[in-house]
Amino acid sequence: MSKTTTRSWSTTVFSSKVIAYYHSKGRKNLPWHNTKDPYRIWLSEIMLQQTQVKTVIPYYQKFLTAFPAVLDLANADLDQVLHLWSGLGYYSRARNLHKAAQMIRDEFSGQFPKNQAELETLPGIGRSTAGAIAAFAFDLPTAILDGNVKRVLARCFAIEGWYGQSKVLNQLWDLSEKLTPKHQTAAYNQAMMDLGAIVCKRSNPLCLECPLLKNCLAYQSDRVQELPHKKPKKARPSKSVYWLIYLNNQQILLEKRPPTGIWGGLWSLPEIPQDQYQLTDEQQLEPILHKFSHYDLNITPLLIQKTMQKKPNISIMESELTAWYSLDETIPVGLPTPVSKLLPKLIEQD
Ligand code: ADE
Repeated sequence: MSKTTTRSWSTTVFSSKVIAYYHSKGRKNLPWHNTKDPYRIWLSEIMLQQTQVKTVIPYYQKFLTAFPAVLDLANADLDQVLHLWSGLGYYSRARNLHKAAQMIRDEFSGQFPKNQAELETLPGIGRSTAGAIAAFAFDLPTAILDGNVKRVLARCFAIEGWYGQSKVLNQLWDLSEKLTPKHQTAAYNQAMMDLGAIVCKRSNPLCLECPLLKNCLAYQSDRVQELPHKKPKKARPSKSVYWLIYLNNQQILLEKRPPTGIWGGLWSLPEIPQDQYQLTDEQQLEPILHKFSHYDLNITPLLIQKTMQKKPNISIMESELTAWYSLDETIPVGLPTPVSKLLPKLIEQD
């Protein structure tokens, strides 16, 4: 048996404690346990990817009644598959499941691939899911790293940083590969998932019930709440623009926006970015804050000229499509909300 050590553990001590937990407290009688059928194990792993055990159970049973084997699923209508998935969410899982079943029928002669690399070629099966299927169905010594296992390892070994970063993720995979035992891999993997789900929970972890407590670096340094590090919160981006108000005898100059991007194809006020222009004595109106889902737009309307004898030079806007619209009639084109709100306020400005 390997005698590798990581920073705080002998790997054999770590895996023996995890396997002992499996034998004493691990879950052994869920509907996808006590089978070596890769189809059933695959289905459970996909359903469990983003969904809790108690939600999965009735769906799993209904699904297997409708499609008892991989060929039944391959030959089914996608509509029926999606119908049986309804309510479980993340529907790309169901579409991938159906597609993968058809690949197994057409490219693998109806036989489930029997190693991690081939499993990973199927849609919806990533490295961790392939590792789980290979260990549970084929007793291969393959490592896994789902969300629960990431948390257990990040705490036990005080791994710094958010695991959305590939550097951190690679560190966790290296650890998982090192710690996964060559024997009783299925028991070890199941226990790691169970530890993460039941004991080493994100909030209110039950550290005193954890078999790894004595050597857990996060526990020893009182950092269980802090680890694993969360995704850093980004400041909400914002953009500041001027909207140019050209008024002439109750008429306003509007510009058609490009067909793609925000307010694509709507008619808006000619817009220029604030950071590229130094504007001095133009009259600023009250600024408008418009919130998009992904950023804030700060709009400062500028009253350029009150009354003009002829059309202004609008080359600054680089737009082919501009038109004058009457302020006291309904404008028969699409307008962004802040434009519809602003226009009535301009009547008295003219
Ligand atoms: N989450 C993903 N796979 C699981 C499994 N086999 N048991 C419990 N939770 C899981």
